[in-house]
Amino acid sequence: MTVSPAKEEQSAIGARAETMLSELGAISSEPNRLIRLFLSPEHRRAADLITGWMKSAGMSVAEDALGTVCGHWQPPGATGKRRLLIGSHIDTVIDAGRYDGPLGVVVGILAVKHLASRNVSLPFGIDVLAFGDEEGSRFRSTLASSSACAGIFDNASLAFADRNGVTLAQAIETYGKSAAGIPAAAYAREEAAAYVEVHIEQGPVLEAKNLPLGVVTAIVGQSRMRVVVLGEAGHAGTVPMPMRHDALVGSAEIVLAVERIAKTYSADNMVATVGRIEASPGATNVIPGRVGFSIDLRSATDSMRKAAIEQIKQDAQRIAASRKLEVAFEPFHETVTTPCAPHLQDLLASAIEDLRIEDLAQRAIRLPSGAGHDAQVMARLCPSAMLFVRCRGGISHNPAEYASPADIGLATAALVRFVERFAETQT
Ligand code: GLV
Ligand code: MN
Ligand code: MN
Repeated sequence: MTVSPAKEEQSAIGARAETMLSELGAISSEPNRLIRLFLSPEHRRAADLITGWMKSAGMSVAEDALGTVCGHWQPPGATGKRRLLIGSHIDTVIDAGRYDGPLGVVVGILAVKHLASRNVSLPFGIDVLAFGDEEGSRFRSTLASSSACAGIFDNASLAFADRNGVTLAQAIETYGKSAAGIPAAAYAREEAAAYVEVHIEQGPVLEAKNLPLGVVTAIVGQSRMRVVVLGEAGHAGTVPMPMRHDALVGSAEIVLAVERIAKTYSADNMVATVGRIEASPGATNVIPGRVGFSIDLRSATDSMRKAAIEQIKQDAQRIAASRKLEVAFEPFHETVTTPCAPHLQDLLASAIEDLRIEDLAQRAIRLPSGAGHDAQVMARLCPSAMLFVRCRGGISHNPAEYASPADIGLATAALVRFVERFAETQT
């Protein structure tokens, strides 16, 4: 017998989720666009709001040294420290939508609230985790919060500085925490039974197939790096074109090479993005002498990504030499392609199929994730899996991001059903 919410309850849950997501979405450092950075005053306000929701859902709440909010529910029947982890993130990109990250936290809380209201007995506890650093929007330390929980936090990232020169170590202190407490954030392996994350798809596949939910097969690997191109600053009016060492024009040529090389790996679904570029000294009448830009490169096969990076470096050196520039690469983030645990994928697929959603194909669809997620780090701790929720137009990292209350209600029902099915495998 399942306690998974039926259709009417799903509508109420979806409506409640929508309200919660609007409240969270209103917490921003700017009035006209959503920006919620790691360890910022907005992070604090969002964490406080979530703490209140977790408490009213029947959870005890704690925070670790990186501000991850952890709501714990110990159901009847659960003894010991073993727990199922459910999580996602509450930091955002610049000018974000409301669903990327918060959706998974809200659905986790509502699933626990539902299970607690039914007094469901489980052989493990449940922790709902609201991570604060998935996007890497403030520091280069992408996925720092989940890395701490997984016990793989890299202390070198404490020295990373934000745009204002504040280091991660300083930001932790200002947030009222201590970096010395980071090791204590790690779960012991025997405590963590599994990690599951609900997230908007951030792509168009589910919508195109007219399906509300899908099971993630793997999260693609990523390489992120900063490229610094050095030329010579000079007078915009006096230096003839053939005599210039313009770092920005050279960078533009390198950016085009990045695009061209990534396209040659289209069979591997490689994608490359230069999302940030700064030219110095940055004046209209000065030839740029120094340029820094980012590269974000993703692909399903780690070896293909490595090969592409080598090609990019060779092309960049060739372009720099032809323009008498210097170029240097500084890698700062590397994650390998992370498969989701097959047995958890099967349980999620069965949970979706148990809901008997109209229009759902016989078997739940499975698809890879091109976006990075906390799940890829938590997979280093314990078996991990992800449930994707359809989003309108596949749009994400954009204020137009949207998932319907009906689909969110269904996702919560699928998560509850997953918990039940997972419990059956644990007894
Ligand atoms: C996170 O959203 C990422 O994949 O960049
Ligand atoms: Mn996300
Ligand atoms: Mn994101």
